[in-house]
Amino acid sequence: MNSTIELLKTRFEQALVTAFGEELAGCDPMVVLASNPKFGDYQSNVTMSLTKQLQQKPRDIAQKLVEHLEISDLCAPPSIAGPGFINLTLQPAYLEAQLNTIYIDARLGVAPVKKPQRAIVDFSSPNIAKEMHVGHLRSTIIGDCIARILEFRGHEVLRLNHVGDWGTQFGMLISYLREAYPQALTTADALDLGDLVTFYKQAKHRFDANEAFKETSRQEVVQLQAGAEDTRRAWQLLCDQSRREFQVIYDRLGVQLTERGESFYNPFLPAVVADLDRLGLLEEDAGAQCVFLEGFTNKAGSPLPLIVQKSDGGYNYATTDLAALRYRIGEDGANRIIYVTDAGQAAHFAQVFQVARRAGWLTEQVDVVHVPFGLVQGEDGKKLKTRSGETVRLRDLLDEAISRAGADLESRLAAEDCERTETEKFKAQVAKVVGMSAVKYADLSQNRTSNYIFSYDKMLSLQGNTAPYLLYAYVRIQGISRKGEIDFSQLGEDRKTKVLLSEPTELVLAKHLLQLSEVILAVEADLMPNRLCQYLFALSQKFNQFYDRCPVLKAAEPQGTSRLLLCDLTARTLKLGLSLLGISVLERM
Ligand code: ARG
Repeated sequence: MNSTIELLKTRFEQALVTAFGEELAGCDPMVVLASNPKFGDYQSNVTMSLTKQLQQKPRDIAQKLVEHLEISDLCAPPSIAGPGFINLTLQPAYLEAQLNTIYIDARLGVAPVKKPQRAIVDFSSPNIAKEMHVGHLRSTIIGDCIARILEFRGHEVLRLNHVGDWGTQFGMLISYLREAYPQALTTADALDLGDLVTFYKQAKHRFDANEAFKETSRQEVVQLQAGAEDTRRAWQLLCDQSRREFQVIYDRLGVQLTERGESFYNPFLPAVVADLDRLGLLEEDAGAQCVFLEGFTNKAGSPLPLIVQKSDGGYNYATTDLAALRYRIGEDGANRIIYVTDAGQAAHFAQVFQVARRAGWLTEQVDVVHVPFGLVQGEDGKKLKTRSGETVRLRDLLDEAISRAGADLESRLAAEDCERTETEKFKAQVAKVVGMSAVKYADLSQNRTSNYIFSYDKMLSLQGNTAPYLLYAYVRIQGISRKGEIDFSQLGEDRKTKVLLSEPTELVLAKHLLQLSEVILAVEADLMPNRLCQYLFALSQKFNQFYDRCPVLKAAEPQGTSRLLLCDLTARTLKLGLSLLGISVLERM
């Protein structure tokens, strides 16, 4: 099914040509959602942009265009406003027919892509033996949502965890492992090193204080790079330990990732540098091998280098990303590659992309994009910290959200007018879903490019643009089905029950329900999950307004069934939309 906006665009394109001739073939008709419902549902401002070309006044162009516009099956007769805006209002009969169509469609009218791409989403990507911090949490939540949307549209998606599992810090970590856990390398069992972050700090402390230790660490790096078996085993132990800790978080969040860490690309690094050299892109600068960048200059105005091999012969983060990009295009056959990291890495990616382009590895056929996001701040507007000033551990953060969600539920149940008693199992499940959803939604509902303030109170509130508000709208609808003993899944079965729209709140809700596909396509293109959140929030609001004004179970037929269909469609849209955000719904809460 074509979305309404697609249909309107096609009709406008046809009208532009019939009214003004072939020279307007391919002209963008500029159809958008109306900025204000007062003006209708959609509008086109195309006339303003044509005055020069057509040598006519915009109102006259609008007049002529409208005469040729064949949209009576979709809209009421268009109106021309102001200097020449064309305003469109959808007809109830069209809305009813569309709703009846999406009602029997499991995808709710969101068509799968015609030409699926092979997409890679590089996200989460924490570093071994270091804290997986809130920045990684943002990357995990946003990356998972993007991957879900692309998957739902039918693209082939590779979800890659570009774990930081390589680098000189491993020399220090391995030396410390040998000192502090000499038995580690001789037992076959998995080792529990306790908290790896503490382990990292202790190793660093030892490294900074002791020259001999420093030297041993340097040796270990050489051994590791040379592939010495014993050293590699130590490295593996450290990676395994971190991996287990990361996995706990991924399991709790319900996020799937394929680990392909930095070390995976080690064998390809020398060739990256050699090929850059062969292509004449490499220059030596203070002993390091680099590519001088176009458009990146230092304060004095001279071009900045991207170092790909350090003076000691070692490779770095950028070399690995070049190798990864080349591999992903050449071996994985990706045609869209999405990197989800904090905005601080924007320059890094722009530089890597530039070098890959100049080397001819990255071509026009491949769309690479850095998806940046802002910082997570505490309520004081500073970097998120615990009360005692430590960095917040992710599992503590998730636990806290869940326990607060649990406490909220307890207080609702304890309210005097509440006659519910619930089992411990039920309460635990609600707390878990609400807590997790709140954390995810708070992140996704922000424009990702800005910083956001992490507030448990706000994200757990039943009011406002929050997960609990949306979950509650869903629960409310399931309550209708329970109360009326209506099996929603049987409603559309006879195909005779139909949506009929008359009340203003029904029309508003109906129009919104039909915009799902437009929103998903927009997120697929611009990778801004907050658009989907905004859509679902508005859907819940519009549903609540409808439900406040229109009786459902008490309405006479055929209104009653029609309204039940609207309820069910709203619930299914919420469920689908939330699932694309990585959030599951509850039947009761
Ligand atoms: N490990 C990096 C960090 O913690 C993120 C890696 C992102 N992906 C990439 N291909 N560079 O900041």
